[in-house]
Amino acid sequence: MWLCRPSFRKTMKVSKNQNSSRQGAKAQTGSLFFRNASQILTLAGPPGPRRGKALSELGIVSRGAVLTQGVRVLDVGSTRALEAKARRLKAEAIDCRGWVVMPGFVDSHTHLVFAGSRVGDYEARLRGETYEEIAREGGGIKLSAERVRQASIDSLVRQAQGFLEQFAAHGTTTLEVKTGYGLEITQELKLLEVVLRLRKMSQLELVPTLLAAHALPAEYSGRSDDYIETVIRDLIPTVARKRLAEFIDCFCDRGAFSVDQCRRVLAAGKQQGLVPRLHAEQLTSSGASRLALDFKAASADHLDQLSSADIRAFARSDVVATLLPGANFHLGLKNYPPARKLIDAGAIVALATDFNPGTSPTPNMQFMLSVACSAMRMMPAEAINAAAINAAWALRRAARLGSLEPGKQADLIVMDVSDYREIPYYFGVNHCRMTVKAGKVVSPQ
Ligand code: NIG
Ligand code: FE
Repeated sequence: MWLCRPSFRKTMKVSKNQNSSRQGAKAQTGSLFFRNASQILTLAGPPGPRRGKALSELGIVSRGAVLTQGVRVLDVGSTRALEAKARRLKAEAIDCRGWVVMPGFVDSHTHLVFAGSRVGDYEARLRGETYEEIAREGGGIKLSAERVRQASIDSLVRQAQGFLEQFAAHGTTTLEVKTGYGLEITQELKLLEVVLRLRKMSQLELVPTLLAAHALPAEYSGRSDDYIETVIRDLIPTVARKRLAEFIDCFCDRGAFSVDQCRRVLAAGKQQGLVPRLHAEQLTSSGASRLALDFKAASADHLDQLSSADIRAFARSDVVATLLPGANFHLGLKNYPPARKLIDAGAIVALATDFNPGTSPTPNMQFMLSVACSAMRMMPAEAINAAAINAAWALRRAARLGSLEPGKQADLIVMDVSDYREIPYYFGVNHCRMTVKAGKVVSPQ
């Protein structure tokens, strides 16, 4: 995996101020001028998520520039129009060499924190076992939970930090982070402690979600209601009181938890101020997406098994349908979530990696665009909106993130293509040459 061609680095004039603020926790105060882009994808538009035809609108400025001040976007326009203003501000110029500049990716569904990997499960699947068979035999989520129990906080932080560098190098500026490999109260709290440390250390924005109802711990075998009660009674109040998570999620599916159990967890979380989101209809058509709709959840994720009536219900709702085609790809499935039908019906569609050790071990949102286009027939422009502004909606951050407009946060990436459609088209390579978070260059370091 290459991060940056040396020839590009030479032309990247990054000020001393910029360098020093990168190392410390100081807020960025300087101004950056990203000039000579072939296309700025502003994703600007009316407030609200992008649905239907609006999902194809990227608000492109040709031969464009972005001027930042401090953590915010000050202006977006043609390079020529912004040149004088940038000079007046003594902005540091970054020559974008005819490439594409766009908002940083918002990855609204990841399971960032786990110990080790599950390459053994991967090989077992390649030999023909299914995801659910492996889970029943003691692999799957429970295997990751066993490893988390044995791991120290420091080692979990270290592994996640390495992944965060890869997220940044591939153009992600904000990511949701779920717990879910603890599966007991103290271990879930340990994972939240890891997330807290990562939030303090990382230059990326991490959004924590409690996913204690991910799999049934072995000690509760045959007593899943008891585990759910423990989560509701002993975990959710602590997490809410200490503000350790913003969202509450459950894995609502065959082999995980029932609609009724997940309803109880989401209700308890919501009552304590956590916003619901849900793993829904991945393996079976269970009614989970209706549960998410009932709760007006921030998002319902996976959605492989949606019925036509479900699709119509999403189109009428504000619940983001977050599609995770990396999981289908990695599991070697023939079928993918019904992206086309959802978009054509008018649902709010987002894309995310589902980064996790079992079904989607990639931090690369660019690859999600490629799979979304090639396997789900999304158009490149739709995929880009789904991976930025609609994903920001799914994390309730669209007023600040997900598009390049004056006043919004300066989270942007420089991609070494001259036409945005080449991002999914040249697949499996990293096009990202620079990642800027809140007006600071965070990759390359
Ligand atoms: O989103 N579906 C449930 N959870 C994850 C997989 C977790 C794992 O296998 O470790 C997912 O695909
Ligand atoms: Fe997931």
